[in-house]
Amino acid sequence: MRVTSALHAVSALSLASQVAASSNSTSSGNQALLADGNAQLGIAEEAYEKAKAYVAKLNITEKVAIITAQSVTGDNAWTALNNKDGVSGINFQFYVSGFSLANALTMTWNRDLFSEQFKALGDEFYGMGYNLISGPVSSPLGRVPQGGRLAEGFCVDPYLSGIAMGKAVSAMNSAGVIAAGRHFLLNEQETHRQGSGGGMGGSSSSSSERYSSNADDKTVHELYMWPFADAVKAGMMGVMCAMNRVNDTLACENNHLLSGLLKTEIGFPGLVYPDVGSQQTAFGSANGGLDYGSESIWTEAVIKAGIANGTFTEARLDDMVVRNVIGYYHVGLDDGKQPSEAGVTEYRDVRGNHAQLIRRVAGESLVLLKNNNSGGRGLPLEKPRTVALFGAHAGPATAGPNQAFSVQGASSDVYQGHLASGGGSGQLSMPWLVTPFQALSARAVADDSMIWWIMNNTYSSESGMGGGMGATTGNSTGGSSMGGSMGGSMGGNSTGGSAGGKGGGGGGGIGNLGQGTATTPSFTKYAANAEACLVFINSNSGEGADRSSLLDTDQDTMVNTVASNCNNTIVVVNTVGPRVLDAWADHTNVTAIVYGGLLGQHSGSAIADVLYGAVNPSGKLTHTIAHNESDYPVSVCETDDCDFTEGVFIDYRWFDAHNTSVRYPFGHGLSYTSFQYGTVTAAATNATALSQKYAQGPLALGGQTDLFDEVVSVKTTIRNTGKRDGAEVAQLYVEFPAAAAQPPRVLRGFEKVQVPAGQSADVEFSVRRRDVSYWDTKVQKWAVAPGTYTFGVGASSRDVRGRARLTVK
Ligand SMILES: *[C@@H]1O[C@H](CO)[C@@H](O)[C@H](O)[C@H]1NC(C)=O
Ligand SMILES: *[C@@H]1O[C@H](CO)[C@@H](O)[C@H](O)[C@H]1NC(C)=O
Ligand SMILES: *[C@@H]1O[C@H](CO)[C@@H](O)[C@H](O)[C@H]1NC(C)=O
Ligand SMILES: *[C@@H]1O[C@H](CO)[C@@H](O)[C@H](O)[C@H]1NC(C)=O
Ligand SMILES: *[C@@H]1O[C@H](CO)[C@@H](O)[C@H](O)[C@H]1NC(C)=O
Ligand SMILES: *[C@@H]1O[C@H](CO)[C@@H](O)[C@H](O)[C@H]1NC(C)=O
Ligand SMILES: *[C@@H]1O[C@H](CO)[C@@H](O)[C@H](O)[C@H]1NC(C)=O
Ligand SMILES: *[C@@H]1O[C@H](CO)[C@@H](O)[C@H](O)[C@H]1NC(C)=O
Ligand SMILES: *[C@@H]1O[C@H](CO)[C@@H](O)[C@H](O)[C@H]1NC(C)=O
Ligand SMILES: *[C@@H]1O[C@H](CO)[C@@H](O)[C@H](O)[C@H]1NC(C)=O
Ligand SMILES: *[C@@H]1O[C@H](CO)[C@@H](O)[C@H](O)[C@H]1NC(C)=O
Ligand SMILES: *[C@@H]1O[C@H](CO)[C@@H](O)[C@H](O)[C@H]1NC(C)=O
Repeated sequence: MRVTSALHAVSALSLASQVAASSNSTSSGNQALLADGNAQLGIAEEAYEKAKAYVAKLNITEKVAIITAQSVTGDNAWTALNNKDGVSGINFQFYVSGFSLANALTMTWNRDLFSEQFKALGDEFYGMGYNLISGPVSSPLGRVPQGGRLAEGFCVDPYLSGIAMGKAVSAMNSAGVIAAGRHFLLNEQETHRQGSGGGMGGSSSSSSERYSSNADDKTVHELYMWPFADAVKAGMMGVMCAMNRVNDTLACENNHLLSGLLKTEIGFPGLVYPDVGSQQTAFGSANGGLDYGSESIWTEAVIKAGIANGTFTEARLDDMVVRNVIGYYHVGLDDGKQPSEAGVTEYRDVRGNHAQLIRRVAGESLVLLKNNNSGGRGLPLEKPRTVALFGAHAGPATAGPNQAFSVQGASSDVYQGHLASGGGSGQLSMPWLVTPFQALSARAVADDSMIWWIMNNTYSSESGMGGGMGATTGNSTGGSSMGGSMGGSMGGNSTGGSAGGKGGGGGGGIGNLGQGTATTPSFTKYAANAEACLVFINSNSGEGADRSSLLDTDQDTMVNTVASNCNNTIVVVNTVGPRVLDAWADHTNVTAIVYGGLLGQHSGSAIADVLYGAVNPSGKLTHTIAHNESDYPVSVCETDDCDFTEGVFIDYRWFDAHNTSVRYPFGHGLSYTSFQYGTVTAAATNATALSQKYAQGPLALGGQTDLFDEVVSVKTTIRNTGKRDGAEVAQLYVEFPAAAAQPPRVLRGFEKVQVPAGQSADVEFSVRRRDVSYWDTKVQKWAVAPGTYTFGVGASSRDVRGRARLTVK
């Protein structure tokens, strides 16, 4: 590992940026000043005019106050921007909602739900008095399947992430708060994010450098910047730059990244602010593109001295201030109506009916990976007479519902309780948590089913409660495993009735137990006695640490033990990122697998809704589940330099390019009904546009305007051929001509349609110029490749049901 002292790195950096700045200290060309009119501001124009007028009235003291997050009093009064974390719920706050994490929300593939959840979340932030919200997240994108923060981000596909990111930004802005996308850019793992000296979020020093993400220009554009472009187009007014370095320069002091790619190329008009400890120099940051930072680094004296000696410019200072206030005007905070910031424990109920939405999102996000419902087994459950629950993930953790906030990841990949929240800045403040145990018990009450449970992943009755006292002297019919927790709780005289008679009478009466409902608890016995065996597993990680593995042997052993004894074993998985399932996915007794992200406060209710068929599952995978962890092209990078040598080939793009067999492909997901796809047609809707290789439009928010114009329309029909109403996510995968150097197929459209049983629905995909373009690294523009494009529509990335071709000359 290359180890360089932090001090050396910092001085090299500030030198480089001083050279860059002083070589053209009067120029703004390399700093993307809004005043240069580089991009058309469109929906942000009005806010820009207001911001400019306001900033014109300020003196330098006031300007420095604003860029360092301080309020201004007097004639030019200004309320400091107060950034607050919480991508799916406000961190730490009492009386707020715990929504689905973004990884789950994306699995709904439902644009309306993307908007509704972020609007509801934005309303809560607004009501609690926060104005600059650190979220949504599209970096990490998901390059590293073990990535600790994958639950905070949308998904590994840039197109789908971009749609979600755009909806999130519009919705949060419409709630009156400034949505700030993070982490710009290439923040794909937690390991060494603060140098190899530690993963602490709060510390700004480290014993060696933060990892450097080194990706080529094509990859940066086609994968990692893509969702940010959608967000800028939607009016995003804040960006948090990342903790990592990019091409060996701190992301938060990287002029090419911030002033070039973000502010010039995709016309970002808002403020860039640093992730914790990511601003390290005064002018490396200010000249590099950071607009909001530390008052101890950007003192008035330092700023003035920089301007006096030409290291810095007043024009850039003004630009920074304008960027700090433009979002405020854009979302309407200048109406002065936002309530002041609430105290953490203050009772101010902002939740409205969000709980209903949370349950709906969670239910719609769950993915039915497998379902063999022949012979009355599988899903949905229909009043099972006996249900047994297995695994710590079925019920509450010992203490809850909120895990302790930690930026050092989770202590283990397995959470010993029901996992429904992220960690670190993805931490929810759940007011309550419905676990599967609670929701399924309620179903058992309603159906008068018997329900049994062992909420522990490694349970063995020998070491369980009750101490096995009977085992030493008794002669219970319970066999070798004696004295379980049931024995312990039942006391000396058996209520097991006549069953007691079979025992040998030893062990203080405990030996009387061990059959019927009082059978000694064990995975095998409970499994053998239940009509439906529900096994719950999770895979956890959070901010500050990546997962150590994509599977857990204890949980897999539990599933196999249950499945060996129960021919109707149903597994429920909630996970931060891909969870490998090969240890049991093919087991004939595993009749169904339900898979999802982290579902928030109504998690158990939503799981029960799907298990019992109140909700017909319609989620689809947003990553590939490989056979084996080692099949993924990337794992955690342990060196200071992380070279993205796989380029644009991550997840399904890699597996398709290498013809690798996978367990469940990207986009997969079943329903309790079935769908048939009709003929696919594709038509150019703007032949003129398609005949031009490069976009021609002016630069505006998100990039050249015509990148977002429709050029092709693809149509098909979906027929519900089953007996239940259901929703299907039809997915459009585009195969490019060779000149575009693309993966075999890439997602470029999706439409979720609700189709009543026996009926059909028309589906139309509007394909934008950008969707059929590749990044031309020589010309530095998006280009349409000449040749034949194939538009495939299907139920997953490996289940394309129909294709149409179109040739571009
Ligand atoms: C400085 O900026 C001006 C105006 O944009 C430009 O003409 C000049 O070439 C730049 N000089 C350097 C050294 O980059
Ligand atoms: C800037 O304006 C404030 C009033 O808002 C005033 O108190 C302060 O002295 C001024 N500072 C300078 C340097 O003029
Ligand atoms: C990083 O360096 C590579 C190789 O020189 C270059 O293609 C890429 O554009 C650079 N990326 C950024 C974000 O500066
Ligand atoms: C200009 O002033 C700043 C702030 O005092 C200082 O950090 C920097 O080294 C100075 N640069 C030059 C070239 O004098
Ligand atoms: C479904 O279960 C039946 C037994 O009920 C079995 O015969 C059949 O092979 C299973 N189908 C699949 C696809 O596993
Ligand atoms: C699970 O049960 C085993 C004994 O069977 C015990 O050692 C372990 O501590 C339990 N795990 C938890 C998380 O309670
Ligand atoms: C237990 O009972 C069996 C018969 O059911 C008997 O053969 C055996 O000796 C008994 N063991 C003890 C320790 O009492
Ligand atoms: C247990 O049974 C014995 C003998 O039948 C009886 O004397 C005693 O009261 C019972 N204890 C309880 C707690 O029921
Ligand atoms: C499936 O479960 C039944 C019990 O219902 C068991 O007898 C059988 O061995 C199991 N099959 C496998 C492959 O474990
Ligand atoms: C599953 O096991 C139950 C008893 O546990 C049995 O009644 C049923 O026939 C089995 N079903 C299949 C499909 O093997
Ligand atoms: C996964 O791959 C590794 C290395 O290729 C291999 O050692 C291991 O046995 C594989 N595991 C499974 C479950 O196939
Ligand atoms: C077709 O594309 C051209 C070039 O991008 C654009 O100028 C024109 O407005 C488009 N026409 C329609 C109907 O969208």
